[in-house]
Amino acid sequence: MRLPNWLERTIERTAYRGLLLWERLESGVAFDLLDRQYRTNPYPLYRRLRERDPIHRSRVADAWVFSRYADVSTILRDPSHSADDRNRRRYEQERRRLERRGLVDPDQRPSFLRLDPPDHTRLRGLVAKAFTPRRVQELRPRIEAIVDGLLTELEAKGSVDLIHDFAVPLPVTVIAELLGIPPEDRARFRKWSDDLAGSLDANRPEILIRARQSRQELRAYLEPIVEDRRRAPRDDLISALVQAEEAGDRLTRDEVFSTIILLLVAGNETTTNLIGNGLLALLRNPDQLERFRREPELTENAVEELLRYDSPVQATSRIALRDFEFQGRLIRKGQGMVLLLGAANRDPAVFPDPDRLDIGRSEIRHFSFGQGIHYCLGAPLARLEGQIALRRLADTFDRIELAGEPEWGENFILHGLKRLPLRVGRTSRVAVGARG
Ligand code: HEM
Repeated sequence: MRLPNWLERTIERTAYRGLLLWERLESGVAFDLLDRQYRTNPYPLYRRLRERDPIHRSRVADAWVFSRYADVSTILRDPSHSADDRNRRRYEQERRRLERRGLVDPDQRPSFLRLDPPDHTRLRGLVAKAFTPRRVQELRPRIEAIVDGLLTELEAKGSVDLIHDFAVPLPVTVIAELLGIPPEDRARFRKWSDDLAGSLDANRPEILIRARQSRQELRAYLEPIVEDRRRAPRDDLISALVQAEEAGDRLTRDEVFSTIILLLVAGNETTTNLIGNGLLALLRNPDQLERFRREPELTENAVEELLRYDSPVQATSRIALRDFEFQGRLIRKGQGMVLLLGAANRDPAVFPDPDRLDIGRSEIRHFSFGQGIHYCLGAPLARLEGQIALRRLADTFDRIELAGEPEWGENFILHGLKRLPLRVGRTSRVAVGARG
């Protein structure tokens, strides 16, 4: 018998609260994914986890939660753990439940972010061939021009929402240009991209339904473009992906498509969050903003510290493929392991005074881009965009002030702002784009 959706949801909520209570009684700390406070500022919870229960059994997530730097590193580097959710116990049951409610597409295949070797190795290798650091470096002048265009609009407005007016359009425009999406289609492309990214760890059905629809629309839109690039390659990333397909190794049609989706989902909101979280951290630490303005040679280091301090991606996960013991805990085959990258980044065993933002800090070996075989493929692009965006913002406006309460988004994995209201301006008159 099928229960009505509302009843199913009520049962789920009650069960969730029960599990949370059990978890708290067991370890003195509960890992509550739905707590708003946690989404806004997870760091006090992370500290409790690191200190009291660093390998925490989450009843709610049916997973082990790792919060110390050394442990996160050990799990991520161990090739015997899987990134493929299909290895999770109860995966089929959960998948069928989502399919029944129309929340996932039965034909949807995982991208290589969620595959293991040898498939992961093959796909990542092909995409890495197309998405080279050289291709990224060549983008520098284009990224600078896009940033300057957006800054001119910010200046004309004076009162802005940095997220809507700057941090969202920048990465979407860059990836659209990189892929070779025609300028007249960028608005539609951006909507699809936003819907897909929003679904990453969404807990509301309407978000998942919208994402499913956008995925289908995007595929229908991309199919003729991919076909066209196969016939007449250009100097863009879609052509490079298609050529990689034809160079012997081959990406299938489905793989080309799922790779493009992966680049959108993995690359856009994350970079938006780097810019939003990064600027907010600087505004809340005016001495650091002042230093950032005074010492442009610190730009690269500052971006690394901002990535460490408030990571755009707070967690990733792996699945145990066998029973094993870890520091006295028995981790069972099929159980999930949540790696709290944001907690590892604030581990005092590695970073002295970890809750302090210090853009001059040395040896910032953060985990914000992950570690091991799934290390972020887009890290060079994300760094370049973050560096250009924050440097040019600081150089253009000598007045950047909060003009209201920042509003945090709903995701807990993708940690970032929905709104960052600012007043921006400058006292000296230098045309945007005329700086060195
Ligand atoms: C500040 C921005 C970004 C952050 C914080 C970030 C973070 C991450 C993290 C933590 C992972 C590893 C996940 C895991 O191990 O399970 C990852 C993987 C990945 N990222 Fe990023 N990312 C960013 C930007 C980008 C951009 C701009 C792109 C491309 C346009 C991108 C493409 C990818 C891809 C393709 C993977 C999968 C790599 C693999 O599975 O081998 N990312 N990213």
